[in-house]
Amino acid sequence: MKTLEGKTAIITGSGRDKGIGKGIAMAFADAGCNVVISDIGIVKDHRFDESHIGTNDEMEAIVQEAKDKGVDAIGVACDVRSESEVENLISTTVDHFGSFDIMVNNAGIGYLMEPLIDFKEESWNAVLDVNLKGAFLCTKHSAKHMINQGTSGRIINIASQAAKSGFPFAAAYTASKHGMVGLTRSNAVELGQHKITVNAVCPNHITTGLGQWQNKFFSEKMGMNYDDYIQGIRDRIPLGRVGMVDDIAKACIFLASDQADYITGEALNVSGGEEMH
Ligand SMILES: NC(=O)c1ccc[n+]([C@@H]2O[C@H](COP(=O)([O-])OP(=O)(O)OC[C@H]3O[C@@H](n4cnc5c(N)ncnc54)[C@H](O)[C@@H]3O)[C@@H](O)[C@H]2O)c1
Repeated sequence: MKTLEGKTAIITGSGRDKGIGKGIAMAFADAGCNVVISDIGIVKDHRFDESHIGTNDEMEAIVQEAKDKGVDAIGVACDVRSESEVENLISTTVDHFGSFDIMVNNAGIGYLMEPLIDFKEESWNAVLDVNLKGAFLCTKHSAKHMINQGTSGRIINIASQAAKSGFPFAAAYTASKHGMVGLTRSNAVELGQHKITVNAVCPNHITTGLGQWQNKFFSEKMGMNYDDYIQGIRDRIPLGRVGMVDDIAKACIFLASDQADYITGEALNVSGGEEMH
């Protein structure tokens, strides 16, 4: 029996190759779960560098990859900052699948990093809007559907090690991810009566497009070459390696499964032991 057989999940920010969202979607499909691949799809905002965004073509290729695993899959473009687009994401999902069980709030931006005293207001707003407001809107409209549906539900928020510890040049990113844990706990308390669990997953260093950009940024700031910087990360991780997309996907499968029925309001580190609180 596949762990998530018969379930349907929406994964935001899952339309970018090599991304954590794609990894979660593929693992869910392998576990028998129908998937909605959702991403911003098109570059709508001058603050978003095209190289950081999943394109419609990437999204459609990922939908096909999921279908090739034998589940049903659709792609829905959605900018998580827009309430009307989030409502459309939910209604398109329900029109196609009849209902859904799992929302993974994975969409995020992590490349607007500036020294605190130079940090631009528009950068702060962009990061908080995607990472925190986006998760709030998607949770609000998923919960509304799950409550009306009257069955249990799962909300999984992809936070970060930056939800537990501070990082330089990352005031907005760190604040948004700490905020995501607060959102997780508040929503877990409120939605428990409806058998909807809300948990966060906190990855450390995963070499996605975003992860690679961050490693390059921090290695340059520290005056280190890239390989030495990565080796330094490995050296301080008790399990001796950097994280893989699959490590995060496995944690999400667990939290989405019946095995995690009695777990809510948690912020689970998936960091090889680097982060312990
Ligand atoms: N890579 C890491 O080391 C790492 C570590 C901790 C947490 N995370 C978190 O994991 C999540 C996925 O990151 P990733 O490393 O796979 O990066 P990624 O850039 O590959 O994925 C982020 C996705 O979010 C999408 N996105 C951006 N703005 C959006 C918007 N307004 N609406 C909808 N989608 C939008 C992008 O198009 C992209 O597909 C993020 O929330 C990130 O903060 C990553």
